[in-house]
Amino acid sequence: MGNYRMLARRCVETEMPVMVKIQELMRGAENLMSLAQGVVYWQPPKQALEKVKEIVWDPLTSRYGNDEGLPELRQALTEKLQQENNLTKSSIMVTAGANQAFVNLVLTLCDPGDSVVMFAPYYFNAYMSFQMTGITDIIVGPGDSKTLQPDADWLEKILSEKGDKPVPKLVTVVNPGNPSGVFVPKPLLQRISDLCKKADAWLVVDNTYEYFMYDGLEHFCLEDNHIVNIFSFSKAHGMMGWRVGYIAYPTEVDGLAEQLLKVQDNIPICASIIGQRLALYSLEVGPEWIRERVKDLVKNRELVREALSPLGDDAVKGGEGAIYLWAKLPDKYSDDFEVVRWLVNRHGVVVIPGSASGGRGHIRISFGGLTQADCEIAAQRLQKGLKELIEVGMVQ
Ligand SMILES: Cc1ncc(COP(=O)(O)O)c(C=O)c1O
Repeated sequence: MGNYRMLARRCVETEMPVMVKIQELMRGAENLMSLAQGVVYWQPPKQALEKVKEIVWDPLTSRYGNDEGLPELRQALTEKLQQENNLTKSSIMVTAGANQAFVNLVLTLCDPGDSVVMFAPYYFNAYMSFQMTGITDIIVGPGDSKTLQPDADWLEKILSEKGDKPVPKLVTVVNPGNPSGVFVPKPLLQRISDLCKKADAWLVVDNTYEYFMYDGLEHFCLEDNHIVNIFSFSKAHGMMGWRVGYIAYPTEVDGLAEQLLKVQDNIPICASIIGQRLALYSLEVGPEWIRERVKDLVKNRELVREALSPLGDDAVKGGEGAIYLWAKLPDKYSDDFEVVRWLVNRHGVVVIPGSASGGRGHIRISFGGLTQADCEIAAQRLQKGLKELIEVGMVQ
């Protein structure tokens, strides 16, 4: 037996993943309904899965592929980026999901000791990626109290402060957001981008939920030599376990491709070949397939919104995109994890504590992982639980 001091401080001082804590909480509980994990209930397109079945015996499926991704997939993604995202000057690296894409970028763009900026409530895995790569100066900016959109005035101040501290090296935004589902409109993201450019800071935008837009809002991407975009196949194509995502990075930046390759070669070498093939076949099915499924989530969102009504209208924010709503618990319940534990044990429904995203006293509710029929049951339980919480308290 060694001791704790033998472990890397970088890792020891990184938060424990909230999903690991939640899985522990759920262990042994029967008949639980989950509005917790950020997943979708559908599987990849049937046609694509059928095609993948045919290539398992192909020897190439079992070999390593190019570090940056299968040429056919990168070609198809180049076309997709041009047609759907208006990104015409970006190069592509395929990764083992968007989370690995983010770690690649932190390792490539930041040094230990650099400052970085994210906005509350933030995506917990991005926070942990900073922590475990030695970025200890993580500056968390505020969101607007009504809309939760990032506060660009605050960012302007942070990026122009001339003190002993270096200007932040990287700013990151998830659009639409996790854990809030808040959408950052184009003029605001453009302003954030302009501020980053002026300060020589990178802007990393995570577009994992690009297709998950509601109420007529349209997703968009920005492109420039200080912007890197991240994408994922996990939610859109129901491919969570296949682990495929990609980075669209500025081709014109000298040396960026080489540095990214060093990191890639030392972590996955390449994303799984069969996963990349499934991604390619799924792309061939076209984006309409995704949009049809996303359209159906609107009903789930409304069920969950209704379930949150005991907290009051002002308490619930977000949900313009992605698969999340973000809700404030009454002031006396600042220990959100205790409320989550109580909801699990007494009401058989699980959500994510907001403190995992820097939002103590809040909860994140995912409406993507259940079919409408199951979502109805989960939402009823949540509503009953919240009503009891407000009217009586956390009775056992
Ligand atoms: C904003 C965001 N980025 C990345 C990921 C992880 O995606 P992937 O499965 O592609 O690693 C998630 C998953 O919840 C997410 O919400």
